[in-house]
Amino acid sequence: MEISNEKGARIYTPLILKLYDLWVLQISNNYAWRCHTDNILLRHFQINMAAKHLDIGVGTGYYIANIKDGSDNITLLDLNPNSLSAAAKRIGAHRISQVIQHDIFMPLPESEKGQYDSVSLYYLLHCLRGTMHEKARAIEHASQALTDRGTLHGATILGKGAEHNGFGRYLMTVYNKKGIFSNAADSLEDLRTELESYFDKVEIRQYGVVAVFTASLKKQTAPNNQNAEK
Ligand SMILES: C[S@@+](CC[C@H](N)C(=O)[O-])C[C@H]1O[C@@H](n2cnc3c(N)ncnc32)[C@H](O)[C@@H]1O
Repeated sequence: MEISNEKGARIYTPLILKLYDLWVLQISNNYAWRCHTDNILLRHFQINMAAKHLDIGVGTGYYIANIKDGSDNITLLDLNPNSLSAAAKRIGAHRISQVIQHDIFMPLPESEKGQYDSVSLYYLLHCLRGTMHEKARAIEHASQALTDRGTLHGATILGKGAEHNGFGRYLMTVYNKKGIFSNAADSLEDLRTELESYFDKVEIRQYGVVAVFTASLKKQTAPNNQNAEK
């Protein structure tokens, strides 16, 4: 099944990216999603960022730019060229090895497989279209980028089974209607199921309405599901 994900990426114009840190990382994370950007998300990123790192869905590059002692062998991957150039500029050319414009629903180039000690997926899954099972194609591609000992880490805003407050419910309705988010049916259990089909070790903690995860010990055989590529 082919799923277009352009809508979840197209919104990130240069103007939106200028407002992103204030609106998403400061206001929405604190008051709607109740998951503190620096205390929870930046810290999780910092702990799990390894020597050779791939960031998928880069936004403004906030986390990597604020992990000054983190990797300086970084690949940025995003569907939107505006996000790629904003993040690259902010992080600094000296830390970036590669910039790749790519839809994570599509298989990665062979040159990127088995290369990375860590791969990050922050606030990307809730933007992707489809059920969690369909979104798992992004998890599959991320897992293929990792070395056998590598770690996938990230965070995603949940829709189902999460207690949203009034502000959160309002944003969820508007964003899901506009196609900015596609997460009304995303649950922590479904996220766990999909991560566990690609990794032997999965840890997920929920902060507010955000699932924060790490996954390691990737499975050597692709699961027998519709996402598996022949
Ligand atoms: C909400 S931002 C997240 C930015 C950053 N990771 C953060 O947590 O602040 C989502 C990013 O994912 C990118 N994106 C959306 N759909 C994508 C896709 N199918 N493939 C690759 N990148 C995508 C968008 O262009 C945007 O840069």
